[in-house]
Amino acid sequence: MKNIDANNHVTGRSIYVDDVPELGGTLHAAVYASPHAHGKIKKIDSSQAERMPGVVRVISWKDIPGQNEIGGIISDEPLLAADEVHFQGQPVLLIVAESEEVAREAAGKISMDVDPLEVITDPRVAFEKGHLLSDSRTFKLGNSQAAFANCKYIFKGKAISGGQEHLYLETQGAYAYPLEHGNLKVISSTQGPTVVQRTISRVLGLGMHHVEVDVTRLGGGFGGKEDQASAWATMAALAAWLLQKPVKCILHRMDDMRMTGKRHPYSSDYKIGLDENLKIQAYEAVYYQNGGAAADLSPAILERTIFHATSSYFIPNVEVTAHSCKTNLPPNTAFRGFGGPQGMFVIEAAIAHAAQELGVDAFDIQEENLLKNGDEFPYGQIAEGCEAGNCWEEAISIFEYERIRKEVKEFNNNHLLVKKGVALMPICFGISFTNTPMNNARALVHVYGDGSIGVSTGAVEMGQGVNTKLLQIAAAVFGVNPQRVKIETTNTSRVANTSPSAASSTTDLNGKALVNAANQILEQLKIAAKNILGLDSTEGFVIRKETVWINGKPTSLNWEDLVKEALLMRLNLSAKGHYATPGIHFDKKTEKGHPFAYHVYGTAIIVSNVDCLRGTYTFESVKVVHDYGASMNKMIDLGQTEGGIVQGIGWMTMEDVVYDENGRLLSNALSTYKIPDIYAVPEEIDVHFLNTPGTDMAAFRSKAVGEPPFLYGIGAWFAIKNAMLAFNPNLKADFAESPLTPERVLMGLYG
Ligand code: MTE
Ligand code: HPA
Ligand code: MOS
Repeated sequence: MKNIDANNHVTGRSIYVDDVPELGGTLHAAVYASPHAHGKIKKIDSSQAERMPGVVRVISWKDIPGQNEIGGIISDEPLLAADEVHFQGQPVLLIVAESEEVAREAAGKISMDVDPLEVITDPRVAFEKGHLLSDSRTFKLGNSQAAFANCKYIFKGKAISGGQEHLYLETQGAYAYPLEHGNLKVISSTQGPTVVQRTISRVLGLGMHHVEVDVTRLGGGFGGKEDQASAWATMAALAAWLLQKPVKCILHRMDDMRMTGKRHPYSSDYKIGLDENLKIQAYEAVYYQNGGAAADLSPAILERTIFHATSSYFIPNVEVTAHSCKTNLPPNTAFRGFGGPQGMFVIEAAIAHAAQELGVDAFDIQEENLLKNGDEFPYGQIAEGCEAGNCWEEAISIFEYERIRKEVKEFNNNHLLVKKGVALMPICFGISFTNTPMNNARALVHVYGDGSIGVSTGAVEMGQGVNTKLLQIAAAVFGVNPQRVKIETTNTSRVANTSPSAASSTTDLNGKALVNAANQILEQLKIAAKNILGLDSTEGFVIRKETVWINGKPTSLNWEDLVKEALLMRLNLSAKGHYATPGIHFDKKTEKGHPFAYHVYGTAIIVSNVDCLRGTYTFESVKVVHDYGASMNKMIDLGQTEGGIVQGIGWMTMEDVVYDENGRLLSNALSTYKIPDIYAVPEEIDVHFLNTPGTDMAAFRSKAVGEPPFLYGIGAWFAIKNAMLAFNPNLKADFAESPLTPERVLMGLYG
């Protein structure tokens, strides 16, 4: 089934926050943000802004009726700065005006003096000074110290991975308006409607029931709107509340880039030990996460880094420690992979390092150490339904890895200044929120009198296709035409206490809640069927293609008549379904448990082509065997895979988030921050669906797909590195730094 939004997307009819028709008297808010990275506020002069015609009000932290606090996990982040500022781009004042232009112009007339404090942008420096955002975490398996003593080969090195700007096409924004009885409605571009509701209620000092948050869809989130949509929605709500007028707050691109957090840069140390058969016997790593100036989701992201420290490999002796370091940058946040990619880059760097020193292909080490069923992850979960080996072997055989390897070698022998590189990237990603209590969802389903169906869940559509999948689920469970089903907006008054749409789990959680609700309604419909058909029992009752079947045979009863009869019988054709992932748990005291419902696996083969005169490169091909389980929508899953691969390649290669030593973002526009365009996309992306039955833990046995393919992009770094090694075999082995921009390639080749 085609994505239900496809036609509207390509014809420009899809509705985003800024497309919602404005109510009369709507005001516009612009943010005045700190131009200083760290300091005590001495003086703020907003008098000129306040006098400007069209400016309605300048709002500061003093106007906040509730708590000036928006921290999600840890209460360490004000909505508007009070005494101190901690990063450039930190919101200080909110200017409300009759037009967006006036509000922005007024913001430009505000100035602020601070007593400067030390600016730290490097996580290792922050760590040395003891500036941590949360407790450090360590996962241990076996005894790495003892194991290193028996290793034939030991390599130590450092790996650095950069940040990444989300660059959702729709910037952050919200539209808030007051309703009667002291209520507020907020239309927000958020992955977490409940997070927005909770934050507004806290800042305004209102009960959550007064705040209704509604989301139609997002023009992309990629994690950047899991927690960080709340600030802007709360500002719109605060202004709407104080002025009792509709207020819109939508960020311009450069403000969005400057004020919001990004993927966490990491700087890490690793030590890897192998025996003479290339079995990795021991692995240790220390990760310094650059968290920015407030915790945001950093503690959860930190934890996923060490959950994925050993990636798709089994290592019997592991000790990994992660520190969340407080720096004077915008608070970094969720981004596709949620810290996992940062952990995986380090183990791949360690393997590549060992391969280079030992004069073998990384391939040989990777293959020797792939995860198998029954292997224990460093967090105590045992691998089940492991497809790592199957994906690897199938990729090697159907894509003829041996031939690719030979061709690359031959090409390199025949070319002096252009070199090719091939790398394999096996992936393993845990599905579930690592914070167990978040793994739940609800769905509200109405069957209307004409047989049409309305479905509300906690799922937010952000381009990933969840609404299409939910529609497929509803149509399949009820046995009706997809045209009968409408997926409603995501609204906190219809579905409450939701987890954000994140962790790739949205379809699993909300889809299973939807199945639960639909089954409740089917129970009612059975009663009606029994009545009409005069049956003693409803054994084998199913609805297929809008017809009721009993015991494997179609009856004369169709869907519409069944629904009519049920309503005449005064049966309830509305239901609220609930789902909480069974069997998952994690104990933070022992750092052991079973946090994931299941894992997603795959293998990519990536071929790069590097111009060793210019440092530029392209990717000839990315060939993938991926474990989708029993994919319920191959088109959507393929789209997620291709998008994830390109986004992952961008992170590893060209996307360079640069701050100067004063914490000012230099890559603050699309002219200075390059994301992959059509020319940067690999010439060939060939995706093969591994044939498996999937798992019952996934909705319709169709495994979660949102984040895992991003990880294939990590292979791009190693494909370039291998091409570089063909040109200059003496490259530094013990240091890996991403993004591997053309500048870095050139410096590396001749450095
Ligand atoms: N795909 C599109 N088109 N837009 C997005 O914002 N977000 C990604 C991924 N794919 C995203 C996307 C991220 S970070 C996650 S966690 C998942 O989608 C969330 O949706 P899911 O849980 O339905 O997979
Ligand atoms: N993934 C995404 N978002 C989250 C997670 C996670 O594992 N845990 C808490 N928020
Ligand atoms: Mo995705 S980073 O879990 O929103």
